Amino acid sequence: MNWLNDNVVLLTLIAAAAIIILTVGVVGKYMKQMQNDKSGGELAKENWDGIGEYKNPLPIGWALSFLGTIVWGLWYVLAGYPLNSYSQIGEYNEEVKEHSTRFESKFSNPDKATLMGMGEGVFLVQCAPCHGVIGDGINGKAANLTKWGTEEAVVATILNGAKGSNYPMGEMPAGLLDAASAKAVAAFMMQEISSVKKTKNAALVEEGRALWATCSACHGEDGKGMDGSAANISNYGDAKFVVNVLGMGKKGAIGSMPKFNDGRLTNVQKLAVGTYVNSLAK
Ligand code: HEC
Ligand code: HEC
Repeated sequence: MNWLNDNVVLLTLIAAAAIIILTVGVVGKYMKQMQNDKSGGELAKENWDGIGEYKNPLPIGWALSFLGTIVWGLWYVLAGYPLNSYSQIGEYNEEVKEHSTRFESKFSNPDKATLMGMGEGVFLVQCAPCHGVIGDGINGKAANLTKWGTEEAVVATILNGAKGSNYPMGEMPAGLLDAASAKAVAAFMMQEISSVKKTKNAALVEEGRALWATCSACHGEDGKGMDGSAANISNYGDAKFVVNVLGMGKKGAIGSMPKFNDGRLTNVQKLAVGTYVNSLAK
């Protein structure tokens, strides 16, 4: 019997036995007292089918605990939890915050390798359940991150539109341009606007520049999204874009991606997972 070697289990069993023995003893003592006790004293006037009640004074200990409970109740309401906003959850959150701050300062200057390692860890825990361990989106359950963030993905976005993050501007409509123009404007955007600063179709950049007005209407001349009205695509291809997605959340065709701005991830963890996600796209 392995569990008998566990000190905690053993202690618990001894305590349980002690409680049973004490309970039987105390109950037995009072049962006997009830049978033999011939207490005297003044009876109260009330009488229930022959059963009377002695006029006993309040036991002092009981009275003090009763008053103490009232005082504690008043303290609890006025100075304790409800008005002074103390709570165990709050205390827990404060402790988590303290540790997160320590974590942040420990990794205040992470190099790329640190970010990639940390990012992979965060991804496998927080993102893989929806996006899949290899980030392929598990047959369309969530965005396929091995395709997302590339020049081809920009073309697909222009053809299919974008929605789900609740930008003040609303949705980006599908079919803003035909396929050829979309390819050109994607080349321009990757080369000149995004963080990637290069394109697979350098020859199309000037054609795309001429079409940029279609996009700048919502994303702004510099692609920064006009103060949060639409997505900031100047960060496209950069961890910052992913960090922003984590702050906005996203509603997909199949399910929703929650906002990750509830303290679940620290800033450096968001940056790390963003770096990792950008490395998934080929
Ligand atoms: C509960 C499921 C779920 C979890 C968890 C989740 N996502 Fe998502 N994610 C989605 C869905 C759904 C979409 C939108 C898919 C679509 O519209 O095609 C999405 C989209 C994205 C996109 C594309 C954003 C865009 O604007 O197109 C990125 C990047 C992303 N997720 C990163 C992450 C990262 C990083 C994590 C982990 C920190 C994560 N996701 C966790 C479900 C999830
Ligand atoms: C009507 C306004 C509007 C126009 C015009 C527009 N967009 Fe968008 N775009 C948006 C909004 C809003 C989003 C964010 C949608 C969301 O995630 O909820 C977005 C998102 C994007 C994204 C990010 C997609 C992702 O995967 O997260 C890219 C890239 C993009 N737009 C490129 C373009 C390009 C290139 C053009 C020009 C052809 C363009 N947009 C025109 C409003 C617009």
